Amino acid sequence: MKKSMKKRVLSGLLAVSCGAAAVPAFAVNAEDALEGVIYSSDFEDGDISAWSTRGENDTTELSASEDMAVSGSKSLCASGRSKSWNGPSFRIDDKCKPDTVYLINAKAAGKWYTDNLTLSWQYNDASGETHYNNLVSVSGGGWQEITDLKFSYTEGMTDVYIYFEGGTDDFYIDDFSIKEAPVIHPQSDIVSLKDAYANSFKIGTATTAKELAPTSTKELILKHFNSLTAGNELKPDAILDQKACMEMAAAGDDENPQVSLASARSILNFARDNKIPVRGHVLVWHQQTPEWFFKENYDVNGEWVSKEKMLVRLENYIKNVFAAVKEEYPDVDFYAWDVVNECFKDDGKPRDPGFPAKENGYQSSPWVQIFGDNSFIKPAFEFAKKYAPEGTKLYYNDYNEYMGKSTAIVALTEEINADGHYIDGIGMQSHLDARSGSDAFPSVSQYEKALKLFCDTGLDVQVTELDATVNSPDLFKEQAQYYSDIMDTIMKYQDKVSAVVFWGTTDDQSWRASQYPLLFNEDYTAKPAFDAIVDGLEVVTPTETKEEPSSETKPTETDNTEPDTQDSSAPASEILWGDADISGEVDILDVITINKAAMGKENMTEEQVKNADVNLNGKPDSIDAMNVLKLIVGLVKASDFPISE
Ligand code: GLA
Repeated sequence: MKKSMKKRVLSGLLAVSCGAAAVPAFAVNAEDALEGVIYSSDFEDGDISAWSTRGENDTTELSASEDMAVSGSKSLCASGRSKSWNGPSFRIDDKCKPDTVYLINAKAAGKWYTDNLTLSWQYNDASGETHYNNLVSVSGGGWQEITDLKFSYTEGMTDVYIYFEGGTDDFYIDDFSIKEAPVIHPQSDIVSLKDAYANSFKIGTATTAKELAPTSTKELILKHFNSLTAGNELKPDAILDQKACMEMAAAGDDENPQVSLASARSILNFARDNKIPVRGHVLVWHQQTPEWFFKENYDVNGEWVSKEKMLVRLENYIKNVFAAVKEEYPDVDFYAWDVVNECFKDDGKPRDPGFPAKENGYQSSPWVQIFGDNSFIKPAFEFAKKYAPEGTKLYYNDYNEYMGKSTAIVALTEEINADGHYIDGIGMQSHLDARSGSDAFPSVSQYEKALKLFCDTGLDVQVTELDATVNSPDLFKEQAQYYSDIMDTIMKYQDKVSAVVFWGTTDDQSWRASQYPLLFNEDYTAKPAFDAIVDGLEVVTPTETKEEPSSETKPTETDNTEPDTQDSSAPASEILWGDADISGEVDILDVITINKAAMGKENMTEEQVKNADVNLNGKPDSIDAMNVLKLIVGLVKASDFPISE
């Protein structure tokens, strides 16, 4: 941000934001680290009962063996393996909690050579389908080490296991442990992004269910963002319910695609419970859409369906998605939805026909295969307009939007809205490359040219997936300047722009993780890019944002305080709301205690329940935990308690 543009009021702000929490920013509590061990074994006692083999007819034998060991004289041996995926398996969901970060440590060795031994995990989703993913591979001579590998799973997943696999030779595991990771608190002495931009537009983030799992990420989102996009969980491959579709097809109807919001549940519940508006993303896309969706009888090996049948499927699919969100999440503000994503090649021409990677490369489109061109876009918007929840604005979204395709996007919106109002806005993904600044792509002026072109259509514009890469932390200063210039440019058009959404939270979670594209470091501290885009902005406090933000209500240099939090030096009142562990102060340990009690993993005394049950419904529950968390990060005040929302 350029200081000359805005009044500078941030200096020194928020240095004392969390009185009662009394948790220094980024504190790692040593006791937490010791306390949280879920399982640890060096196999010296011969007990391998927590381990099992995998799959039917698995010939593997597990034993506590003296063949080789790192510590002591024994390790866990998997012998007699006939498939690469036969290996020792450790059940997680009967020992660990969902939405919590764990650290896995282990040593692994092959009998002869450690040849790509992989630690993987599997789970069943709500429809019973099993998913398998690799976590980390090790290879080399002798014992290889897995150190503090972060692992989490989310609510709704069942039969969660981690397992070792690779090759068919015997292998050994030693010094295996899994422990709860200490909670890292996001930096607290910085302004909230959404407050900084409250007078201009929403500031959003995208998150996957996995990324949202840690308390730290939830705290970060609560503090900074007032728009949430599901990174993957509302995409066609996540919501199309293959099993239900096949059942309908078997009964003679393959035109009514069935959907399920199961994958998106943890994200949508979080948005609902915290009243965070949601950007739906995305209904129609050539990627992350299953091939069977386009085939006769939903059979992946079947024929492509006709254009007529696909139109019926398209209408029913969109109808079913919106019916599901209206029914299951009536209280979530789905304020925007990307109806169609990425229909143009960079030169503005429609994509080539085919299924990505099978025909015509990765960029081909099964929609073009069936329709012959981009003529599926208009019906998609017509159906979305017909079935979307009231107040949901509909967007066409694309990337490289500052290249040749920008004029094609404008022409598309004009064509579609020629006989009505179907498209409400244009989504500029904005996956940018800051590089070393002077060679950034796009340049700030190229970006502005596209932004202006889209704003001139009179449609709403949203920046939907902003990130800007650099190749090394040495370039964080250049990245900060680029981000600042881009945000300044967007601010020039703030009357036409209703949201700026970053694609992710911390750098390490990004799809471009190796290029540090976001505003926060892995440890939840703010990067120079964060400072640069808030520098010089006036801050509107949360209360003022909720109640009609106007220039009169903006804080001045003398009243720029954070909302009150509990003052631990205040005279003790009868109830210290949130102090579930009766420590005399309210901190993250209370949130953990309440969550454990809510899950039945810990009993509370009457006195504890009195402090923990902040919504006065008679029991500690996840809503209490969330409200205490909000108190800690300064989103609600002690005087708001008891609190039911
Ligand atoms: C595109 C999509 C997003 C996301 C990113 C990369 O921009 O629109 O949904 O998949 O790619 O992660």
